[in-house]
Amino acid sequence: MSGEVEAEAEYFCKDFEWEDLRSEVEANPCFSYHFQSAPSSSSPSPQSDVQAWKQFHLRHSSGKFFKERRYLLKEFPELLSCPPNSKLLEIGCGNASTALPILRANKDVIVYACDCSDETLERAKEIVSGATTVASIHHRFRTFCCDLSTNGFPYWLACNSCRDQFSQKQSQCLSGVRENNGLHSTNPYPSEEFGCCVGGVDFVTLVFTLSAVPPERMPKSIKECFVVLKPGGMVFFRDYGLYDMTMLRFEPDKRVGFREYMRSDGTRSYFFCLDTVRSLFLGAGFTELELDYCCVKSVNRQKGKCMRRVWVHGKFQKPALGCQ
Ligand SMILES: C[S@@+](CC[C@H](N)C(=O)[O-])C[C@H]1O[C@@H](n2cnc3c(N)ncnc32)[C@H](O)[C@@H]1O
Repeated sequence: MSGEVEAEAEYFCKDFEWEDLRSEVEANPCFSYHFQSAPSSSSPSPQSDVQAWKQFHLRHSSGKFFKERRYLLKEFPELLSCPPNSKLLEIGCGNASTALPILRANKDVIVYACDCSDETLERAKEIVSGATTVASIHHRFRTFCCDLSTNGFPYWLACNSCRDQFSQKQSQCLSGVRENNGLHSTNPYPSEEFGCCVGGVDFVTLVFTLSAVPPERMPKSIKECFVVLKPGGMVFFRDYGLYDMTMLRFEPDKRVGFREYMRSDGTRSYFFCLDTVRSLFLGAGFTELELDYCCVKSVNRQKGKCMRRVWVHGKFQKPALGCQ
């Protein structure tokens, strides 16, 4: 991830076949260390991986590190056509590279954006406020600090009553918010429809964030997305794919687990195959709408090298009520 600029590419991009890349990589002895059994004692404490991201954002405080991901509007056209006041949760928003193009393109969407780093949330707010003269944008950008992998989402986003309704269970919390996990129990963004919470979200974007979460905490993270989504709501997923050039460039000592690597700044990255993504989302209760590799050849003109990039594109839906 460090310093790289992602090519503008749509998910159906197939500059090459992923299976051809797989055969080539798996037959090449230079890459054999990527398939050896995973190093032990690699599981970080939640504090250490979140801390690494906080440090990362402090070092890149200009907020210019990630480029705006305009291609997402082509990959996920639902982001352009959703009904007025649709609510979107962008998880691991960084400096708003995903949130900003969505806010610009759709004046009817409200974006709740979270990250584990307060620093980057401040930067994201500045970037969104400064990005346009259209005043309505920053009113529709609402940030909060949250570690997706350990705490889950605050009850002001979806209270227990809403969560129960979304899962068709008998509501046990008629008064709304339960304060049993100490999470932001006061709603900083009260809505007109719901007194106690914003009533859950219609969409979730998980864009290069799940790969930053240690694999053992991924199932809980995806379940948390399921819980705050309204029935029929969708997750738009994009992340690093197995045998992406950036994975193959990691030296042996950077391997910290199965398909998991640590960068020199302490942040981690996992590289997904389709089956892993599928089992995470289906295991949480989602239905698969789209899932594929996006395979893009990009040329580094300075070095004259062709780079094969692999990303995973996925679209998953929470079943509508009556279908769960
Ligand atoms: C590669 S950046 C992606 C940023 C943004 N989604 C984008 O499209 O550019 C990953 C982001 O996830 C955040 N992050 C990492 N672990 C997290 C966690 N456990 N909970 C919430 N955010 C996390 C990092 O701080 C970072 O901003």
